[in-house]
Amino acid sequence: MRSHYCGHLNASHIDQEVEICGWVHRRRDHGGVIFIDLRDREGVVQVVYDPDLPDTFATAEQVRNEFVLRVKGRVRTRPEGTKNPNMPTGEVEILGLELEVLNRADTPPIQLDDSDTSEELRLRYRYIDLRRPEMQERMRLRSRVATELRRFLNEHGFLDIETPMLTKATPEGARDYLVPSRTHPGQFFALPQSPQLFKQLLMMSGMDRYYQIVRCFRDEDLRADRQPEFTQLDVEVSFMDEDAIMVLMEEMIRGLFKKTLDQELPNPFPRMTYAESMQRFGCDRPDLRIPLELVDVEDLMQAVEFKVFAGPAKDPNGRVAALRLPQGGALSRKEIDTYTKFVGIYGAKGLAYIKVNELAKGREGLQSPILKFLPDEAVDGIMQRVGAEDGDLIFFGADKTHIVNESLGALRVKLGHDRGLREGEWKPLWVVDFPMFEWDEQNQRWSSLHHPFTAAKEEHLGLLESDPAACNSRAYDMVLNGTEIGGGSIRIHRAEVQEKVLKLLGIGDEEAQEKFGFLLKALRYGCPPHGGLAFGLDRLVMLMAGASSIRDVMAFPKTQTAACQLTEAPSAVSTEQLQELSLRVRKPQAEEKK
Ligand code: AMO
Ligand code: AMP
Repeated sequence: MRSHYCGHLNASHIDQEVEICGWVHRRRDHGGVIFIDLRDREGVVQVVYDPDLPDTFATAEQVRNEFVLRVKGRVRTRPEGTKNPNMPTGEVEILGLELEVLNRADTPPIQLDDSDTSEELRLRYRYIDLRRPEMQERMRLRSRVATELRRFLNEHGFLDIETPMLTKATPEGARDYLVPSRTHPGQFFALPQSPQLFKQLLMMSGMDRYYQIVRCFRDEDLRADRQPEFTQLDVEVSFMDEDAIMVLMEEMIRGLFKKTLDQELPNPFPRMTYAESMQRFGCDRPDLRIPLELVDVEDLMQAVEFKVFAGPAKDPNGRVAALRLPQGGALSRKEIDTYTKFVGIYGAKGLAYIKVNELAKGREGLQSPILKFLPDEAVDGIMQRVGAEDGDLIFFGADKTHIVNESLGALRVKLGHDRGLREGEWKPLWVVDFPMFEWDEQNQRWSSLHHPFTAAKEEHLGLLESDPAACNSRAYDMVLNGTEIGGGSIRIHRAEVQEKVLKLLGIGDEEAQEKFGFLLKALRYGCPPHGGLAFGLDRLVMLMAGASSIRDVMAFPKTQTAACQLTEAPSAVSTEQLQELSLRVRKPQAEEKK
């Protein structure tokens, strides 16, 4: 139906007759001449109809935004003064000779160039929203990224193998999406939270190198970088240690950035231990573009009278840390109050601070509501340790370690963005030496920091039972600009170790057999040492596209409440369907009461 894409036309086509198809982006009536900006996937071109051809002109008068047209015309150079250097097709226009309306369109409920349209409306009319050039560009980038990753893995001998969607629960720490079985009344499949166990089985089958671009399902609280169904680039290899896996995977990511964005990433990526990351940045996915760090001061606070600091300083599970904001003295009282509220979200009970007006004047040169509670040694110690300079503002967090880490860690990132402190564009790193387990206060038991199939460091194997807290794993996460884009580990490949770890996690023999019996059995029939990782493809593309939510790089994402605005899923089903599945639905309690 067409000879060219709209967006490809330029001065090299002048005097050619072309046929193009697309959507009416805009129509302008300039007293006697009609301009139509016609849009397709590749861009927009201006078509001009003048009244010399009365029939065609009459049709052109009737078209409206988002009508679908087929245009035949001659490419000509635009008159001087009307060229548009901001448009790739801006040097030319098409003198319309024929015009066919392929389809009419009702007035669109969202305007393509209105950036204020609510996300709800955008998702409800996603097929129109996706016509926006920005969204088209994101989908195209996503496709290029997937192609490039596949190319790298294919060239490195990886096999693309599919794994089941109707399966048994894989524990990755979220709730499962369940699917009732008709043929086994009362029984359910789980949609995979990841293909973790299947890819391990594939290693036992001798596939050696596996990958898959695969949908995963997790029923968890949604955030900007979390969706109930999302895509992983899932990878597993045999006979490689963690170092070799990290080297190969960062080579893949470096190549991806070079090829798709023409950006250089460091070689090698820096590696940082989990402990160092928590200490310096309060989290295990530090945004290294932000040059602010947490500094421990609890040793200086042991003896102070200020209970807010002395309490956590003496508590083995407490932390007192300072965060120096260079030239932060310029912050107003109101801004500090806003940040105090912000850390409150993370459970912090306050946000103490000291303004450094003039260091040389000692105490007189400082300004703070807590100064009166702190002896000179403590104040001097803080100033030295954080490297204070005139004009700085020093924030403090004092509480249980996890509250200080979460609140000051988040404050660090927020200050970095608010104050324009970011340095460099891309700061990837590997976080390594994670603890195997963390203590789950609520359920009073150990839980896996990654998943229960993660191997322990060889030298820590002896600690598995005696001191689980001190046992580190062979896991690694790839972090980019403060987002965890991928994570993986060397796996447990010995049945007895796997059994031991499951026991430690409070999973008894019977439960272990019921949930993972197939894995435990498979481990006994010749399992090679193996490991791997999975990248969050949506998160990776989100960062590469400069988008602020993974919803912006997914064609049909779900809302914050895990629903699809477009199809109105989930929805009720017929009584017949329920009967077939041997299910009866009980109304949610709130509704029953009505
Ligand atoms: P993990 O649970 O860390 O590891 O997941 C791997 C990567 O997937 C991305 N991700 C998500 N992206 C969008 N929405 C979500 N709800 C979501 N959850 C996770 C993250 C994360 O780094 N089987 C292991 C991998 C392995 O050990 O090989 C796993 O699934 O970017
Ligand atoms: P208060 O004595 O409660 O008025 O607190 C004095 C100062 O310490 C205020 O600036 C509070 O914001 C701050 N503050 C209180 N609790 C904490 C805490 N747990 N961590 C850091 N600062 C705090």
